[in-house]
Amino acid sequence: MRVLVVGSGAREHALCLALAADPAVTALVCAPGNAGTATVAEYRRLDVSDPAAVAALAAEVAAGLVVIGPEAPLVAGAADAVRAAGIACFGPSAQAARLEGSKAFAKEVMAAAGVPTARARLCTSAEQVAAALAEFGPPYVVKDDGLAAGKGVVVTDDPTVAREHAAACGRVLVEEYLDGPEVSLFCVTDGTTVLPLLPAQDYKRIGDGDTGPNTGGMGAYAPLEWLPPGTVERVVREVAQPTVDELRRRGTPFAGLLYVGLAMTAAGPRVVEFNARFGDPETQVVLALLDSSLAGLLHAAATGTLAGHPAPRWRPGAAVTVVVAAAGYPGTPRLDDPVRGGDQPGVIHAGTRRDGDGVLRSAGGRVLSATATGASLPAAREAAYRLVAGIELAGGQYRTDIADLASRPGLGFSVDA
Ligand code: AMP
Ligand code: GLY
Repeated sequence: MRVLVVGSGAREHALCLALAADPAVTALVCAPGNAGTATVAEYRRLDVSDPAAVAALAAEVAAGLVVIGPEAPLVAGAADAVRAAGIACFGPSAQAARLEGSKAFAKEVMAAAGVPTARARLCTSAEQVAAALAEFGPPYVVKDDGLAAGKGVVVTDDPTVAREHAAACGRVLVEEYLDGPEVSLFCVTDGTTVLPLLPAQDYKRIGDGDTGPNTGGMGAYAPLEWLPPGTVERVVREVAQPTVDELRRRGTPFAGLLYVGLAMTAAGPRVVEFNARFGDPETQVVLALLDSSLAGLLHAAATGTLAGHPAPRWRPGAAVTVVVAAAGYPGTPRLDDPVRGGDQPGVIHAGTRRDGDGVLRSAGGRVLSATATGASLPAAREAAYRLVAGIELAGGQYRTDIADLASRPGLGFSVDA
């Protein structure tokens, strides 16, 4: 199978590594990719925001499967354009991708499907915001309604900060605060059948101990041994399957990756957010543990044949990834700094480029993500931090507590089933 991966982040590099190692894949192209994908996949120039250009490239490289990584091309209709060209595409239509593109739409679908989530009010004026903040009380949760690369959400005890964020966004959701550890569950679906991958945990804040502003994600680990048995099945039954069924019923089936972001509250799993694509950095750890064909799985989802497809197999043990971000991130990142140690096995590239002299340079907020597996979570964590120690980036920032609590017997999370 000839595969085209669209995108240029760590998720796309992780997808390319898994696809390059898959015997079912005969040719691999990544467009536009980064310095990491260029070492495992053929490079092509591409404006990912142009659906016609994505479809044209898919035809030009004779792709048998197109995998669209980021949300922006999905919301713009890239998957529709590829499918219209008669090429199998892993990724939802623009209509179905609104599950991520509009938080208000996601809430509406969840209400119709009976999916448990935080109560929320859609607000377009300062008066509505003030009333909703008063209704739910602190901690205040204010979300930009549109796409914001994981940075449109403010969770704060300070009503002034909450009001200012709402004013800056315009159209926002004000939500009830969900208390409990967060879980990311990726579900592969063809619009009817749902196959869950391993649950993972992401670290959203920039600083150790979950301090500082939200980011796109600073690290992750999988699997989650502290999850009560049966949680994955419960989330498929109560969340993913009803959502997929509801979108099919509306005539806008969701075929691709339904990313379920959950809070494990005392009352059970509650949806924090949906995304319409693989998450970053969770993809790095989930795919590091995958022991069956990724191309076969994604192709089955793209062609409506998931019902007959075997469930994915997993390697024993655990995986940990630690993101190294540029100085200034999650604000405006400093770019073009030389990066050393970026070509070690397990280092997954996010915002990188290679200059004319072959020197690796930072080219984005999140630069690299050091990913390692191990027989146990503590072993994987140690190996990931050994990799980080071999990376040099001036002003680089990383968290030192990824997978820390969960690695300590008796000190990790626990939640009631
Ligand atoms: P989102 O973009 O919706 O995933 O939000 C980003 C992050 O904000 C989440 O991963 C949570 O850490 C936090 N968050 C979002 N919604 C809530 C909520 N209702 N209660 C508590 N934390 C939330
Ligand atoms: N890990 C968060 C995201 O991909 O949105």
